[in-house]
Amino acid sequence: MLVSAKEMLTKAIEGKYAVGQFNINNLEWTKAILQTAEELKSPVILGVSEGAGKYMCGYKTIVGMVNGMIEELGITVPVALHLDHGTFEGAKACINAGFSSIMFDGSHYPIEENIAKTTALVNTCDVLGISLEAEVGSIGGEEDGVIGAGECADPDECKAIADLGVTMLAAGIGNIHGKYPENWAGLSFDTLAAVKDKVGDMPLVLHGGTGIPADMIKKAISLGVAKINVNTECQLAFAAETRKYIEEGKDLQGKGFDPRKILAPGVEAIKATVKEKMELFGSIGKA
Ligand code: 13P
Repeated sequence: MLVSAKEMLTKAIEGKYAVGQFNINNLEWTKAILQTAEELKSPVILGVSEGAGKYMCGYKTIVGMVNGMIEELGITVPVALHLDHGTFEGAKACINAGFSSIMFDGSHYPIEENIAKTTALVNTCDVLGISLEAEVGSIGGEEDGVIGAGECADPDECKAIADLGVTMLAAGIGNIHGKYPENWAGLSFDTLAAVKDKVGDMPLVLHGGTGIPADMIKKAISLGVAKINVNTECQLAFAAETRKYIEEGKDLQGKGFDPRKILAPGVEAIKATVKEKMELFGSIGKA
């Protein structure tokens, strides 16, 4: 059964570790992440961008697929199905479709509008037992064709949004989606500490988990980050192994047209990436 992310994140704050959000793109991706989480006894959050939602035939299809897998694979660890960077309309659609967790990203609106729209979702999510992530200070880089300019959140604005009663808060601290450029300045721990100071025990979310050095991840967790999003790193690992398999002509050996065999090395690469992240985040054995 899908669960809200609230309890797993409260435990993560207490235990000083972080739960990984791994974005899904298809059945293979979803199965690989769920099996790894179960094997390692780690709670897990499956992230779905609106673009991935369309690709996978809509939110209802995804809810059906994930619920079916949880049952058929005998998954016992807590699993949250979470909308990633949702619009207001997307958030409502996912709530109706049966998602157990929602991100409403109002960071590109003026703060008053972000507050108004986030407020409208707080009550609905509360009544339905769905966790809600809000964002202040846009995360840079490109995701699903949306390009953000990467900024550091204003700690007072973070407090204003946190006080609305959201479950978790994504605050921009110089992090960006995708690969980090050579001249990246690193995470702003001053901003993170100032935000933490204002919002207390509210779980903080670190987007752009791909390519952040391990010491920065650990420091971020020590300063209140309880959820870390990873997408590009799984994609890079999947693409590299699939390309290698085809370039080496292995797909032409034997039954060379079997899609299950062609995708298998990429799937193993996703599992290895998820395992590595769960080790770094400290969530293994915490389910
Ligand atoms: P990366 O693609 O950089 O790992 O970021 C993922 C993310 O933050 C999804 O919201």
